[in-house]
Amino acid sequence: MFSRFFKRGKKEEDEYGSQVIPANANWGFLGADMHSHLVPGIDDGAKTMQESITLVRNLADMGFKTIITTPHTMIDFYPNTTQSIQNGLNDLQHAVNEQKIPVSIKAASEYYIDEHFIQLIDTTPLLTIYNNEVLVEFSMLYEPPMLFDVIYKMQVAGYKPVIAHPERYLFFHKQFRKYSELKDRGCLLQLNMLSVCGYYGRNIKAIADELLSKNLYDYCGSDMHHEKHAAALKAMAGTKDYHIFANYPFLNPRLCF
Ligand SMILES: [Fe+2]
Repeated sequence: MFSRFFKRGKKEEDEYGSQVIPANANWGFLGADMHSHLVPGIDDGAKTMQESITLVRNLADMGFKTIITTPHTMIDFYPNTTQSIQNGLNDLQHAVNEQKIPVSIKAASEYYIDEHFIQLIDTTPLLTIYNNEVLVEFSMLYEPPMLFDVIYKMQVAGYKPVIAHPERYLFFHKQFRKYSELKDRGCLLQLNMLSVCGYYGRNIKAIADELLSKNLYDYCGSDMHHEKHAAALKAMAGTKDYHIFANYPFLNPRLCF
């Protein structure tokens, strides 16, 4: 019955109106993961090609068909460029093909909002996860000066900002209205999947739950850096936290190619 349910993509519901989760649950219904650090050696994610392949294989085993991996571009620590990311991606794709892992993979970037990024907006085509959508992050501890001006600048340049893991920005926790303001100003919000199981702590889980209950998220992503993340994501499949994902209209499936 359950294999039929997945093949036909039809939602079966239990007596409470929630989607029924099969015993061998995986993340295949999302189709695509759009936030991870799998290009070897260019940020704080996978260090070697072997590590990269292990993580890619893990995502494929969990049911993802498409991976949009997003190395950091952060001038002080990971001064990546479109070229460095593309070169790393080429090597990774070659290895994934050699290993016959059944997954399509491309790269964008997770841009850190700093002075360098503000210059990039005007001078270099940014890497996008989908159409004109650009994944951005900022400090977890303090709101970047003129955040909303930078967002506006991106929009004027033709981009749609996707805010990575908004639940992890501690300074927003006591001003929840900022999340609605980001949405009202045309940003998309991306949930880190592991936030929901408490991986980053109780407070971050509470904010993630609230953002989910108010339908403020658009995408979810693994933000996978290493095998601990893979193991935690695998462990979540089939739990009540997983149930939340299966019932939420994430846009991830449209990213499949
Ligand atoms: Fe990330």
